[in-house]
Amino acid sequence: MAGDDHAAHETIERYERIWVGFSLILIVVFVSLVFYAVSMHGGHIGHAEPRQDPQKILAMEEFANPGIEQTGDNSYQVNMVAMAFSFVPGEIEIPVGAEVTFRMTSRDVIHGFQVRGTGINVELIPGDISSLKYTFDRPGEYLMICNQYCGVAHQNMLGRIAL
Ligand code: CUA
Repeated sequence: MAGDDHAAHETIERYERIWVGFSLILIVVFVSLVFYAVSMHGGHIGHAEPRQDPQKILAMEEFANPGIEQTGDNSYQVNMVAMAFSFVPGEIEIPVGAEVTFRMTSRDVIHGFQVRGTGINVELIPGDISSLKYTFDRPGEYLMICNQYCGVAHQNMLGRIAL
């Protein structure tokens, strides 16, 4: 009987070791996938600059007169203000292959900025400037969507990028 117990105990230990090993492998796989995704597809995670007074940000030239400006041969900067319930500018036209730097903030509440068909997905927060770079290689129309609930007409908060 004692021998059976011992054998059972060893069997359980073996299973435990297998499970621990399996969990460790999973962790390595998940971490590798994150690194792979960021290195292959670029981390289009908007990085926010330190928070400031929202009114100060809105008074900055780029946000007082939001729009598109050409900053180089093939590079553009889009200065955008989000508000309930639109993006300004709401229609963006740029050439194919252009590298676009987005600088964005919100005038009122937290909005989302997602561009369908790309990895772009950032939060726009009053008092924060979210910025990211993206190169649009494929011609077509891209839908800009607010993906943070921001009020009654949230679902109508849309825009368009055309190349
Ligand atoms: Cu803006 Cu939802």
